[in-house]
Amino acid sequence: MNIAIIGTGNVGGALATRWAAAGHHIYLGVQDIQQFKGKDLLQNKHTSVHTIAEAIAQAEVILVAIPPPAISGIVAPLGNLHDKIIIDATNSVRTSPENYPTVYHYLCDQTKASVVKCFNTTGFENMLNPIYDGKGIDMFMAGDDETAKAVAKQLAIDGGFENCYDFGKADKVQLLEQFALSWINLAIMQGMGRNIAFKLISR
Ligand SMILES: NC(=O)c1ccc[n+]([C@@H]2O[C@H](COP(=O)([O-])OP(=O)(O)OC[C@H]3O[C@@H](n4cnc5c(N)ncnc54)[C@H](OP(=O)(O)O)[C@@H]3O)[C@@H](O)[C@H]2O)c1
Repeated sequence: MNIAIIGTGNVGGALATRWAAAGHHIYLGVQDIQQFKGKDLLQNKHTSVHTIAEAIAQAEVILVAIPPPAISGIVAPLGNLHDKIIIDATNSVRTSPENYPTVYHYLCDQTKASVVKCFNTTGFENMLNPIYDGKGIDMFMAGDDETAKAVAKQLAIDGGFENCYDFGKADKVQLLEQFALSWINLAIMQGMGRNIAFKLISR
């Protein structure tokens, strides 16, 4: 797949690295192509850097991994994006987009793209290396668009997660952000450290 990465920091960088290694083409979309966080990502195969508009134009899938308030300045100038799948990996933990509870809600309202919330529920270290005891940890997603969910699930598996469970439709997006806060609570507030992860078991 051709994937634009908007936000090339911790989360965008980790997923760009995994997906490039899996054979996807990565278009880093940055504000300043000379000076951006994650310049080392250009050493990965199938990876190039562009303006945000150029990266999005070349991709069918867009990963959004930015501070939530920045979203309006990024997608508003680009038109309706009706032929794109957008994966929202953000968490409105401290800040949210103006007038919206989450970036997912902003994107559904302000674009015609197929939107899914995914890759927000664990730390970026787990995205860079999702293997514990020889097995992949799990990822989770939510949203109304089944096509976007199928793509997110495939990209989770391509990135080394064992499965990507469906939390439900748009009414579960904020629950998924609360789930992310649960990981943050255990890892940081409760002091367990960032090398912890969620895995669903069943019988
Ligand atoms: N850190 C985690 O473990 C983790 C896990 C799950 C979800 N998340 C969520 O993922 C998002 C990103 O977190 P992160 O830790 O990856 O942040 P980060 O390392 O600080 O990276 C943020 C990225 O966003 C870019 N950015 C900021 N403002 C922008 C703008 N106005 N236009 C375009 N790009 C802009 C930055 O580019 P410049 O350097 O050029 O400013 C940088 O590449 C947040 O919403 C966070 O809640 C984080």
